Amino acid sequence: MCGIVGAIADRDVVPVLIEGLKRLEYRGYDSSGIAVLDGSAIRRVRRTGRVAEMESAAAAEGFSAMLGIGHTRWATHGGVTESNAHPHLSHGVALVHNGIIENHEEQRERLRALGYAFESQTDTEVIAHLIHHHLQAGIDLLEALQRAVKELTGAYALAVISQAEPQRMVVARMGCPLLVGLGEGENFVASDVSAIVSATRRVVFLEEGDTAELTRAGVRVFDAGDVPVQREERLSSVSLASLELGPYRHFMQKEIHEQPRALGDTIEAAIDAGGFPAELFGKDAQAVLAGVTGVQILACGTSYYAGLTARYWIEALANLPCSVEIASEYRYRAAYADPKHLIVTISQSGETLDTMEALKYAKSLGHRHTLSICNVPESAIPRASELVCYTRAGAEIGVASTKAFTTQLAALFQLAVVLGKLHGRVDAAQEADYLEQLRHLPGSVQHALNLEPQIVAWAERFAGKANALFLGRGLHYPIALEGALKLKEISYIHAEAYPAGELKHGPLALVDAEMPVVVIAPNDSLLEKVKSNMQEVRARGGELFVFADQDSNFSASEGVHVIRTPRHAGVLSPVVHTIPVQLLAYHTALARGTDVDKPRNLAKSVTVE
Ligand code: F6R
Repeated sequence: MCGIVGAIADRDVVPVLIEGLKRLEYRGYDSSGIAVLDGSAIRRVRRTGRVAEMESAAAAEGFSAMLGIGHTRWATHGGVTESNAHPHLSHGVALVHNGIIENHEEQRERLRALGYAFESQTDTEVIAHLIHHHLQAGIDLLEALQRAVKELTGAYALAVISQAEPQRMVVARMGCPLLVGLGEGENFVASDVSAIVSATRRVVFLEEGDTAELTRAGVRVFDAGDVPVQREERLSSVSLASLELGPYRHFMQKEIHEQPRALGDTIEAAIDAGGFPAELFGKDAQAVLAGVTGVQILACGTSYYAGLTARYWIEALANLPCSVEIASEYRYRAAYADPKHLIVTISQSGETLDTMEALKYAKSLGHRHTLSICNVPESAIPRASELVCYTRAGAEIGVASTKAFTTQLAALFQLAVVLGKLHGRVDAAQEADYLEQLRHLPGSVQHALNLEPQIVAWAERFAGKANALFLGRGLHYPIALEGALKLKEISYIHAEAYPAGELKHGPLALVDAEMPVVVIAPNDSLLEKVKSNMQEVRARGGELFVFADQDSNFSASEGVHVIRTPRHAGVLSPVVHTIPVQLLAYHTALARGTDVDKPRNLAKSVTVE
């Protein structure tokens, strides 16, 4: 979604802004712009479409400056037009904004009455005018920003410059991430560390309600009461290499292939500990996890499917009731709340608004114990949670989640074993066995990646199809859902997933020779049932594409294509079976020529409702 970058330096910051915006492209956007202070005047360029187009326009107009702000916009209030793109201006004040201002209508009426004219349909423009309005009282830019944000309701990360104050930039944060980057004689601001990582790795994460002033010489931070505060400086672990493509064609392909490493890193602490200590989830985890009597998982999209998989593990290994709900549904219903149940939020980005709001809502219902599984340190959801487990997938740039999903599964499996131990269901021998399975996981995933050439051949057949069905049973049903989601989001082929046993209750009507049916059919206790479901498809002329494992005792025949995934002992099989469905989606999208890393209409971090 929207991204912010800003810089103040003794050198031309335009390349810093453009590079930063390019690094934010992965989040999803539809327009971009920069505003710089050139001499004593603000100059602005905005374009719909790719950052590269805006970059060319800025170059053609000879943009060069030592203070500037930039933005990638993902349209919410107002269409995808140049006039709605950020930065927005008000009489020499320029501003970029992430988030949504809820009382923008009311502020707009007030500002109109004060004589301000509006050029855009955005909620953001009101903030620019509001700051300008406060400046009229003779105060400085920082104070004007501090007064303005107190009149806003909603969520924002803001970066503001003014032609009247060329020596500084001011910023504010509430509900949307914003961090300051510290350089030598230069300072930066960004919504995501990747935007500034080539300039500095020394960062300060602003907290809710903070404002800050950046000059070349330093940074001053103020809390929500405008009192100066010190916020801890950290060294970001995001590496430039994780933001570069290397030998791959797409970030999605790179990230699919990084999974053995990402999983290895995520399970490292358990392997090093020689088991599953509760401390994998934080230092107070033992007491909390031993005391819970059930689990409620809240998440969206792919993370929700990780949650659906975890339910099988938690109920089977720990014998605790576990419900899984889409966060955007949970937050608006009168949900049953048992304070002894653990709320588990799963979010790759840690910023998904619906998941964050669901977490807040759960707390308001009386839930005391919360745990977050997240891939982005210091993001909003883990910060608002009692216990945290960070997956160590590394930066995920492709919009379609891949390594974040499988590492979530690894973390959730560890949670299930920890709960099983603490609730007396997993003994030492079983713990050792689960650890052994976990230890082999990166290797099994590597073997699954070696299936790529066979999957490419399938993808060529899929590329011409308009629809696809995915079937799985038990633990593999969520993987069927994930396969269908991956295929639809990057190849735009309509795909649906069902538990295979549901087929005859409706979706079988869709099956004909034009409907490819992907079946996840490892050799587990449900295999014979799945085989009968496959017969139902064949009998209607449907073409089957089956991911079977080495022991599935299943062979190809007319209309039945089989790829054998590596043998993988037991309960971690869903992780291994995720790899071929990811590869199928990727290569099908490639064959159809879609923009794999930035599929249409989608954003990486969904920070709006
Ligand atoms: C799909 C995908 C999305 C996200 C969802 C939640 O490939 O990535 O469905 O899983 O938007 O995002 P997070 O995990 O960041 O909360």
